[in-house]
Amino acid sequence: MLSIHCFQFFLFSICVHISTVFIYFVYYSDLISTKYIQDIKPEYDYIIVGSGTAGSVIAHRLATETNYTFVVVEAGCKSHALLEAPVLGPFFHGSLLDWQFQTVPQKHACFAMKDRKCKLAQGKILGGSSKLNNMIHIRGNLSHYVNWFHGKHTKEYLEKQFEFIEQNILHLNDVQYQSDLADAVLGAAKELNYAKLDIDFKSGFRKNIVSQNNGKRWCTSDNLDVNKHVVTNALVEKVIFKGNTAIGIKILLAGRQSNIYARKGVILSAGAINTPKILQLSGVGPQKLLKTIGIPVVKNLPVGENIQDHIGTGLDFVLFNKSVSISAMDMINPLYVLNYFINGKGPWTTPGCEVIGFLSTKNQSDPDLQFMVLPVGLSSDRGSLLKNNVNIKDEVWHKYFSKSFNSYVGTILPLILHPKSRGHVYINSTDPKAPPLVDPKYLSHESDRETLINGLKLVIKFVNTKSIQNIGGYINQNHFPGCEQFEIFTDSYFDCYIKHLTLTSYHPVGTCSMGLPDSNKSVVDTSFKVLGVEKLYVADASVLPTLPSGNINAAIAMMASVFFDNSIKVKNHIPFCYKNDLFKEYLFNVCFDR
Ligand SMILES: Cc1cc2nc3c(=O)[nH]c(=O)nc-3n(C[C@H](O)[C@H](O)[C@H](O)COP(=O)(O)OP(=O)(O)OC[C@H]3O[C@@H](n4cnc5c(N)ncnc54)[C@H](O)[C@@H]3O)c2cc1C
Ligand SMILES: *[C@@H]1O[C@H](CO)[C@@H](O)[C@H](O)[C@H]1NC(C)=O
Ligand SMILES: *[C@@H]1O[C@H](CO)[C@@H](O)[C@H](O)[C@H]1NC(C)=O
Ligand SMILES: *[C@@H]1O[C@H](CO)[C@@H](O)[C@H](O)[C@H]1NC(C)=O
Ligand SMILES: *[C@@H]1O[C@H](CO)[C@@H](O)[C@H](O)[C@H]1NC(C)=O
Ligand SMILES: *[C@@H]1O[C@H](CO)[C@@H](O)[C@H](O)[C@H]1NC(C)=O
Ligand SMILES: *[C@@H]1O[C@H](CO)[C@@H](O)[C@H](O)[C@H]1NC(C)=O
Repeated sequence: MLSIHCFQFFLFSICVHISTVFIYFVYYSDLISTKYIQDIKPEYDYIIVGSGTAGSVIAHRLATETNYTFVVVEAGCKSHALLEAPVLGPFFHGSLLDWQFQTVPQKHACFAMKDRKCKLAQGKILGGSSKLNNMIHIRGNLSHYVNWFHGKHTKEYLEKQFEFIEQNILHLNDVQYQSDLADAVLGAAKELNYAKLDIDFKSGFRKNIVSQNNGKRWCTSDNLDVNKHVVTNALVEKVIFKGNTAIGIKILLAGRQSNIYARKGVILSAGAINTPKILQLSGVGPQKLLKTIGIPVVKNLPVGENIQDHIGTGLDFVLFNKSVSISAMDMINPLYVLNYFINGKGPWTTPGCEVIGFLSTKNQSDPDLQFMVLPVGLSSDRGSLLKNNVNIKDEVWHKYFSKSFNSYVGTILPLILHPKSRGHVYINSTDPKAPPLVDPKYLSHESDRETLINGLKLVIKFVNTKSIQNIGGYINQNHFPGCEQFEIFTDSYFDCYIKHLTLTSYHPVGTCSMGLPDSNKSVVDTSFKVLGVEKLYVADASVLPTLPSGNINAAIAMMASVFFDNSIKVKNHIPFCYKNDLFKEYLFNVCFDR
């Protein structure tokens, strides 16, 4: 390493250490302060497990639109205002605020990672994964959601749910800061005749709309009256059944186990990895698995099967002759820090990803590929943080990524929108503290690899446009370690490359799939009720039977809202209406038509 790069590494490492220490401080001060003072009643109408994107939407609507009693039980701690700066998201990976899941060693993917294990960050904090995500807000293709419900809800109804969330629960703004790369990619898309994208869905490109309030990260949990409705640092171990009716949960709080009971229902919103784990620990899951572990079967269901994820590749694949973006150096510029805290603008508001695009590798109108454009690459921080977040082997780092130090890196990340590979999440013991075995079988389906190979070819096409050439873009010509035997940029080289540099976009879904009751793939019905048991619901990423066309946070919030509307609100007879004119028509339906 040249001395300048050593110096940069040193500086960034200091930042990483400061943030680690601060996260310790936030975590332990919440742990100590909540140990004795949290008021937990023995019984509520509803219990919500998990305060992430979905759990918080349900909690907010329960609090504002019903008089039911409820509690949100969250294993993580409360956040801190200083941690809400968008630029800090990557610092949460691998910290106390992350469940720190890893896949089991992969057969067709993650070869460049230590032990062939990809890391799969998921938020363990009030707000869940939305506290460390990239804040990108996109609705996706509504037709897909109509299919999930098998026609129970119309496209118009689901669209209203999105509008409702966008206007009442989230705060959205355009990206407040962008690099030269953002405009260059949009220029390239125009050169190649891709359309502009609106918030609704068609193929094309756009600068992101992000979930921020004045440049500060905004999550669905930010609406909650935390002291009144949320218990933090409490691990839910399992659901308690009486016969086949869920009557409550067992929790572990401050080293002590206790039970909380629910009169009307238990709602699992613990995310796509933890929800199936809790169900399996409670005896709801594949009979064979439960018998092996020694858990009495309450209901045999394909819980944990069908996990799928938006997989991509291409970090440091595109290099530049000149700086196109904020360097990690800029990040520690005090002026930029002030600009964030005073104006809510500048590099500290960066969501990481500036532009998204949807393309077809098959020349069809229905896209099968997403581009995420990031102003940084893996080598930008000289190995102080991102290398660990992605679990890159040292050898690969030295042979490939550290070679980009003398160029500038940016990333055009192609991602498979509708992967065919499916894996599973299985518990490995009866210990609620043990992580489950996550085997997503990334890229096990050949057509996923084909799509991604074509995606890389499209990236090359983009880099060859005038717009990208103008900012000095070119393709990294180094052979990826492990793929030296293949002629560079041939299909077999790319096949090798993606099997090595496999990247998740942290969108696991499908582990408690919604479907028709007589399908052997369904875990919940179209009312989000777990099949074959009473008063137990799942509403989070787990129920998505397939991946949306786009980032999934908005779709998860929409699903949570639909759940509330149809399974909770209709049972509550208090007339309630939002006084927002825009929604008069819709609310008229909700208030009086049901
Ligand atoms: C790094 C990253 C970047 C992302 N970027 C984007 C993006 O830009 N745009 C986008 O649309 N999506 C993005 N996503 C995806 C999106 O944020 C998540 O899919 C979404 O937040 C999941 O919502 P959820 O409600 O299903 O689960 P989560 O938000 O993960 O919430 C689950 C909650 O349950 C809690 N919990 C789990 N187990 C237990 C237990 N046993 N007891 C008590 N509590 C428990 C967890 O601590 C957590 O708070 C990203 C995700 C990640 C991780
Ligand atoms: C909610 O209000 C209804 C009608 O006023 C009442 O019957 C019900 O008992 C209330 N429920 C709770 C939990 O307070
Ligand atoms: C894509 O399809 C259009 C018409 O459907 C055709 O004109 C065009 O040549 C096709 N492009 C490629 C690259 O196959
Ligand atoms: C949305 O999905 C439907 C159903 O799969 C498909 O027919 C339609 O072409 C898609 N729309 C776009 C813009 O991709
Ligand atoms: C799964 O459990 C077995 C038996 O307890 C243990 O030996 C093994 O290490 C566990 N596997 C993982 C990946 O934790
Ligand atoms: C950038 O530098 C590379 C390597 O020196 C060179 O091949 C390429 O022509 C340059 N591109 C531009 C656009 O300046
Ligand atoms: C599920 O049903 C399908 C079609 O009905 C069948 O082919 C398949 O074997 C079944 N799977 C299991 C695990 O029972």
